[in-house]
Amino acid sequence: MLRFLTCGSVDDGKSTLIGRLLYDTKLLFEDQLAALAIDSRKHGTNGEALDFALLMDGLEAEREQGITIDVAYRFFATGKRKFIVADTPGHEEYTRNMATGASTADLAVVLVDVRRGILTQTRRHSYIASLLGIRHVVLAVNKLDLVDFDQAVFDQIAADYRAFVAELGFETVTAIPLSARFGDNVIARSVNTPWYAGPSLLGHLETVEIAGRGPDQPFRFPIQSVVRPNQDFRGFAGQVAGGRIAVGDPIVAAKSGKTSRISRIVTKDGDLAEAVEGQAVTLVLADEIELSRGNMLVAPTDRPHVADQLQAHLVWFDARPLIPGRSYILRTETDTVSCTVTALKHEVNVNTLARDAARSLAMNGVGVCNLSLQGPVAFDAYRDNRSTGNFILIDRYTNATLGAGMIDFPLRRAENVHWQAMEVNKQARAEIKGQRPAVLWFTGLSGSGKSTIANSLEKLLHAEGRHTYMLDGDNVRHGLNRDLGFTEADRVENIRRVAEVAKLMADAGLIVIVSFISPFKAERRLARDMMEEDEFIEIFVDTPIDECARRDPKGLYKKAREGKIANFTGISSPYEPPENPELRLDTLAEEPDDLARRIAEFMGERLMRG
Ligand code: ADX
Repeated sequence: MLRFLTCGSVDDGKSTLIGRLLYDTKLLFEDQLAALAIDSRKHGTNGEALDFALLMDGLEAEREQGITIDVAYRFFATGKRKFIVADTPGHEEYTRNMATGASTADLAVVLVDVRRGILTQTRRHSYIASLLGIRHVVLAVNKLDLVDFDQAVFDQIAADYRAFVAELGFETVTAIPLSARFGDNVIARSVNTPWYAGPSLLGHLETVEIAGRGPDQPFRFPIQSVVRPNQDFRGFAGQVAGGRIAVGDPIVAAKSGKTSRISRIVTKDGDLAEAVEGQAVTLVLADEIELSRGNMLVAPTDRPHVADQLQAHLVWFDARPLIPGRSYILRTETDTVSCTVTALKHEVNVNTLARDAARSLAMNGVGVCNLSLQGPVAFDAYRDNRSTGNFILIDRYTNATLGAGMIDFPLRRAENVHWQAMEVNKQARAEIKGQRPAVLWFTGLSGSGKSTIANSLEKLLHAEGRHTYMLDGDNVRHGLNRDLGFTEADRVENIRRVAEVAKLMADAGLIVIVSFISPFKAERRLARDMMEEDEFIEIFVDTPIDECARRDPKGLYKKAREGKIANFTGISSPYEPPENPELRLDTLAEEPDDLARRIAEFMGERLMRG
């Protein structure tokens, strides 16, 4: 069995090539062929001949409507081998499909149009293929008929490509001159390329040797689910992600270190004596140990890493850039945890493979970064195990997959930094002040009235003998955050730091008043999640932008409208209003002092009680 994927844009002839392979290996159904003949006559570009691109377009249209079942993969077989081709359409979206659908592929067929040669896209896909652990690559130089099967043109492209991929660590790089449209060198060697001594594409795919990982790899079993149909049975379902396991073997739960032995290996077709990588089974243990989804059963003598900080290569798919400091959901094959990118170490220039400094990663960008997770996960380095070494990053709100990661290694920097237990704790500090700590988080446009109301509130609380502290955007930006500007990345970091400071102040027993525009939902959510239950009170100062601009207390709207301030919130930078704030203040209807009193009342018993 060979799993491969094709890369290159549609114009390079990817669909034609796959169509041709399926047709020449007689894998099309009669009705598909009949439809193709009709379509080719109607819309084709080949006269009476079949136009294979139409065939793939048809399959793609079906897929978009969700009709076919072979969504991402096509199976076909010859006498010599079975194949699974990851059919990954699309241009811009390509890296997403490639990275999510193809991390199991053994080989990549990179198509280029002979007239265009090696493009950025070719380099990007080749680099990502190597990142994904693919060790065999075929450079399919297509449309040779359009250059009269000129050997010199082919040789030059092949040489350019070999020079580029030299550093990427492929085991085999095979360049093949092709015409997918006319079938030259697709299934059989072509008479049009007498100068070419290598195999046809199919010939190569049938014979290329792929080294298996073998059963002597360390045993890995990420737990998908706990199966407990009744009191007498408790098993752990999943797929063996590395090595082998037999009844009686000792195992350890990676995260907790608890040990046991395998007492049964259950499948729907009965019990097995042993299971190997790739098999889906349910394992029953000799002892009742605490285990849930996300944990991993492993070989006691060869354990994976368990850490909450790691370095990874990241491929970014989303139109909104990756921003260090922003909170995302990290999902391994079975585990899910909240995380932030703590440092973007560099971005890889896919054309030159140079490492460029970067503050964010745009769509299709590839970079190396450090991640900090909210709790430990069990994993291997991607180079050691592709299934336990990969993860995806997910948007907290939309659930969209934003990027894919290949883990390099755990970071030990926090390993020897322990929490210092303190005798005088938060509760003691709060008690002596006779209050409950709180974080009153004001958000709203510049000029909405945040600081005015916050000031009034602090005066009120102070007069009542409360211990307060006010963190104000303009002020903090003169000190702690004076290195930050107003790009999206800087604002994210601005809010992250302020949230950390607010947390420390709450820990000191204070009532903290925070007044920052804090335009992004994600960071306000991050701040909320950092505080204790009920401690965070989001106050949306909901003043319409026209009113803010009319008041314009610092003359900033005028400047922004004249184009003198870049990234100005509400004008050239977005503001995402809160959906469920604890309080929404209407500054058109009420005076600042009255609004402050309303906040104090809202807090009332709930937070002021000592
Ligand atoms: S935030 O977006 O990162 O939360 P923050 O509250 O710290 O912003 O700072 C906002 C203050 O900076 C505004 O009240 C305004 O006085 C000033 N400022 C200067 N440039 C900008 C800008 N481009 N956008 C918004 N505010 C700006």
